[in-house]
Amino acid sequence: MIFSSFKINEEEKIHVQIEQHIKDSIEKGLLQKGSKLPSTREVSKVLSISRNSVISAYEGLESEGIIESVKGKGTFIAVENKSSKGDLYIDWENMISDYGNICEKLDVVKNELPWKKGMISFKSIAPDESLFDLEEFKRAFLNVFSIEGDKLLNYGYAKGYKPLIDYLKEYMRKKGVNVEGKDILITNGFTEGFDILLSTLTNQKDIIICEEPTHNTAIKIMKSHGLNIKSVKMDADGINTKLLDKTLREEPAKLVYLIPSYHNPTGIVMKGEKRKEVYEICEKYKVPILEDGFNEELLYSSSHVAPLASLCAKGNGIVYIGSFSKILFPGLRIGWVFGDEKLISKLESVKRARNIHSSFLDQAVFHKYMESGAFKRYMKKIRKHYKDKYNFTLIQVKKYIPHEYILGEGGLHIFIKLKGVKGRDVLEECYKRGVVFMPGDIFYSNDYGSERIRLGFSRVSEEDIEKGIKIIGDVVSEITDKNKE
Ligand SMILES: Cc1ncc(COP(=O)(O)O)c(C=O)c1O
Repeated sequence: MIFSSFKINEEEKIHVQIEQHIKDSIEKGLLQKGSKLPSTREVSKVLSISRNSVISAYEGLESEGIIESVKGKGTFIAVENKSSKGDLYIDWENMISDYGNICEKLDVVKNELPWKKGMISFKSIAPDESLFDLEEFKRAFLNVFSIEGDKLLNYGYAKGYKPLIDYLKEYMRKKGVNVEGKDILITNGFTEGFDILLSTLTNQKDIIICEEPTHNTAIKIMKSHGLNIKSVKMDADGINTKLLDKTLREEPAKLVYLIPSYHNPTGIVMKGEKRKEVYEICEKYKVPILEDGFNEELLYSSSHVAPLASLCAKGNGIVYIGSFSKILFPGLRIGWVFGDEKLISKLESVKRARNIHSSFLDQAVFHKYMESGAFKRYMKKIRKHYKDKYNFTLIQVKKYIPHEYILGEGGLHIFIKLKGVKGRDVLEECYKRGVVFMPGDIFYSNDYGSERIRLGFSRVSEEDIEKGIKIIGDVVSEITDKNKE
């Protein structure tokens, strides 16, 4: 209350003292422009003075334009404090840590050409939200909220919502993974799980091996942790195992990060024999594998490929990070880290130190939805939908875009190697013609990938897919012709 330090003296008229007190408070910065003053009734009561004195003080201030009364709302300070000392100025640019600078430098959302209204965008590989079965999700929400809404709105546990942990453990078991001695930590998507793992296991300059190319966000996180990234080239069926062996032989690595199914950005699915070979190489060098299973569910063919984690029957050397972000509700930000229970216990403490836990309400609704059988039905529907769309896009790419090769077997994107044409040159021209996509170089931790482009098709209509791909093809041909001149 602004009058708590106000002392009435006998020499001056009270309304003058009140006016002066308010002016002094503005001068000292205790009252800012827009601050609400107590009502005249309140002031008279608190100071035990007549209300008329307060009214006359307020009228005096209002006539000077220092305060203003707004009908039905109250009385407010109308002026800025001119002699304000409230000008603590910080040059934030010079305060930013290396971590902050790296995150911003590698922020593709900020740094790449933005989508503008009316454009055809192949940038995203997010699921098509028009396919989400909102009714089932609403039912799951109402169900779980009516049963345990009160608990879900209180603090929960860092490791996650127990029924969801149990559900996911069983889910992993059904994928052929031995769950004995293993545990799960629920995270805010793959991204937080990966970040927590790197924070828990690595120190700056540690060597981490990954595929080349790889998930752009993973590159950003590895770089922000100051890791020494050794990327190993991929063949058409996954990481080159000879090079993997050589890289591991040359220097001891802390971790190997792999995306074996519907790899981003190539879409490659590592075959069973190769999975075994990769596993045996890592076993030989005793280096843990960090398996990113983000797209596993988007299986288009009927032959299920078990995760690498299933090869590690009795061992504990594979940490699997799961996420449904490419098929279901990425906005819920739910992912999970599956691994050795002692390791998960360490990760749990890191998670708690960071943000206590992921939203329990979200986890509980998600669990209810999955458990209800809705997920199975949904998966059946979207697999067919995305498979058809993938095939449609592939046909258009083959028809319109001159290329050296196209990689992948599925997923929500197609990765194209152009012939002597830079992806960024194509993007620049396509942008002028209303088409945008991801240049391939963002998926490389080095300077390669300049002749690659990634086209995400999940949220683009078939009509726009054909229209957009034709434009890209025209631009590629034009640049190729120009290069020949
Ligand atoms: C390789 C890879 N892993 C995981 C994810 C999912 O990340 P999140 O679960 O944080 O949304 C993506 C999303 O694009 C990805 O490309």
